[in-house]
Amino acid sequence: MGTRHFLTLTDCTPAELKSIIQRAHELKQMQHKQVAHALFPEHVMAMIFEKSSTRTRVSFEAGMAQFGGHALFLSPNDTQLGRGEPVSDSARVISSMVDIIMIRTFGHERIEEFARYSSVPVINALTDQFHPCQLLADMQAYEEARGPVQGTSMAWVGDGNNMCHSYIKAAAQWDFELRIACPPGFEPDASLLEQYADRLMLTHSPEEAVDGANAVITDTWASMGQEEEKATREAAFAGFQVNHELMQKAASNAVFMHCLPAYRGYEVTSELLEDPQISIVWAEAENRLHAQKALIEFLLNQ
Ligand code: CP
Ligand code: NVA
Repeated sequence: MGTRHFLTLTDCTPAELKSIIQRAHELKQMQHKQVAHALFPEHVMAMIFEKSSTRTRVSFEAGMAQFGGHALFLSPNDTQLGRGEPVSDSARVISSMVDIIMIRTFGHERIEEFARYSSVPVINALTDQFHPCQLLADMQAYEEARGPVQGTSMAWVGDGNNMCHSYIKAAAQWDFELRIACPPGFEPDASLLEQYADRLMLTHSPEEAVDGANAVITDTWASMGQEEEKATREAAFAGFQVNHELMQKAASNAVFMHCLPAYRGYEVTSELLEDPQISIVWAEAENRLHAQKALIEFLLNQ
């Protein structure tokens, strides 16, 4: 097999994903107990960010430092990629100097092209289409809070965006049902809906999606790159806010999940986000560190 990349969740088998999450649990314990785990000394990660980030940057950079390696932050303002050097050229050059690369960008085809020309593993740290690293952290967080994900029913309420697309793939990989409630016109990608139809239910009613669900998940109504659509989206998504009233319709021990950053008063109320009995958003965020370290280890050990 050639160089392994992690561009979407289906780049790994369900068994591989399970072992990555298992390892993430171990690495979390090690981190909390301050057990040194400098497993990759002198290894270098290039982090290419064409969009903003807090969690992704801090988790990858801290993770590489904890592994005894190093991470380079590369923004389009300071690199030739930002001045139009072809992706294929940048990929060949950067991958000749580092051990692993993560990219946050716009079009998914950009990361696919980068990966084709890269001689080292490439990790998708968010594209317009997918956000697989967040799903590793989310699955770890759900397991910690409520046990196995397999066989559960999860409800996605909101935009059919990159996070929703990764939840669709997660439903197949972790074997759960995903019920998606979006306003008309904001449904996820039609080809994904068709491909994973056996796992999915699509509705325009948040109440219908949430009914009896084990987890209710949402995300911002306007993703990065959609800033100009903010006002029209706010109007379209009225009625799709996740709050305590909606959570009443879910299973009695259901959790609330959000990849963050959250916009309180829009897709979620402040009260729900801050409710420690229901909201597991801080664990999702922290687990970015542990899950991605497990992913890096998996890719570097191929
Ligand atoms: N959830 C997430 O990816 O957050 P950042 O945009 O802060 O990296
Ligand atoms: N859907 C959001 C996720 C941010 C982590 C975005 O793409 O902006």
